[in-house]
Amino acid sequence: MKNKARWRIPGFAWEYMTGGIGLEENVRRNTGDLQQIQFMPRYLSEAQQPDISTSVFGQKFDAPFGVAPVGLAGLQWPGCEPPIAKAARQHNILHMLSTHATQSLEKMKAHSGPVGWFQLYPPKDAAMETDMIERAKRAGYEGLVVTVDIPGVTRRDKDIRNGLSVPPNFDARTVYHAAMRPHWLLRLAKHGIPHFENLTPYAPKGATTKELYDFLGSVLSNHITSDRFKQIRDQWPGKLIVKGVLDPEEAAAYMALGADGIVVSNHGARQLDAAPSSVSMLPLVRKRLGPDALVIVDGGVRSGLDIARMIALGADYVLLGRPFIFSVAAIGDEGPSHLMDVLKAELRGTMWQLGCQKLGDLHKFLHQPEKAANA
Ligand SMILES: Cc1cc2nc3c(=O)[nH]c(=O)nc-3n(C[C@H](O)[C@H](O)[C@H](O)COP(=O)(O)O)c2cc1C
Repeated sequence: MKNKARWRIPGFAWEYMTGGIGLEENVRRNTGDLQQIQFMPRYLSEAQQPDISTSVFGQKFDAPFGVAPVGLAGLQWPGCEPPIAKAARQHNILHMLSTHATQSLEKMKAHSGPVGWFQLYPPKDAAMETDMIERAKRAGYEGLVVTVDIPGVTRRDKDIRNGLSVPPNFDARTVYHAAMRPHWLLRLAKHGIPHFENLTPYAPKGATTKELYDFLGSVLSNHITSDRFKQIRDQWPGKLIVKGVLDPEEAAAYMALGADGIVVSNHGARQLDAAPSSVSMLPLVRKRLGPDALVIVDGGVRSGLDIARMIALGADYVLLGRPFIFSVAAIGDEGPSHLMDVLKAELRGTMWQLGCQKLGDLHKFLHQPEKAANA
């Protein structure tokens, strides 16, 4: 899927989506560390058909994986957001919509229905923050996911080289990239130039592209301090999840401030090249928070086997970001549903091969060769 998507998405959008920061060591670490996790299959097993259903805050889901929030998805593949959300609803798995979506949170909730949560980048402006939270409440989102790992605009070399901006700045380079990808151009013609629809009500009226870009930068900046977090907690009556935490102590601190769950994530390796992989921190966060806290994870998950690995290491739920965009670009609007079918089949297949019937038993099949050798 990824290979096919590569030939349909223009270079500037491809590099924006697949890229990380710096030398991209952290991109490799996310997937590489995950691939190191081994399982011991056991064939003298009484296991019946594996059950991959799960529940989060009492809501039943058909599978323990879902869609991570991905900003500017409509630039990567124009019009891709509704089919991804509709597929998540049809498969009854969690869908998180980004603040930086190119379709409004109100329109998108109609597609995601009961599986939709909204991801908030808390803006600096308190009135804007309150308004966005009110909109999410009115639209009926039950979960609010506060992303804390973007305290400011990051410098990604490829995006700078490509002159990436929103709305896209069609200079000679981007026009050349786009001209080489007619499927993408046709989608763009159908769906229009992507904008940050959730933010347009707050942007200065009649702003130039440059002013708009500066506005978006100013919206993002700053750390989410305890006080800022408490203000959000006070305004949001539903479930509040913090996304972008790697440090177990920080995870515990957010829980003490009233969070209902944590997403262990390094933002798809897009923020700090020296950050640890999500999978390496997951067991430590689980240990620090104890067995009852909701722990979600993402970063480098590419198969049902990877989902099983994350669950074995302590995750209750697993998110994937880039793969759902690859799926629409490669296959069309049916792509996300196809990918969800494949992931479910791979997860069931992995559990069947291990002799594991329940998600909660996956940890019993973890294999650590060095420990086994010294036993
Ligand atoms: C192009 C792109 C845009 C993203 N935008 C957001 C965003 O708007 N909000 C957010 O919380 N995370 C965002 N993320 C991070 C994802 O939610 C998720 O943490 C990450 O993609 C997981 O890694 P994976 O792509 O390897 O599955 C983005 C990731 C990518 C690749």
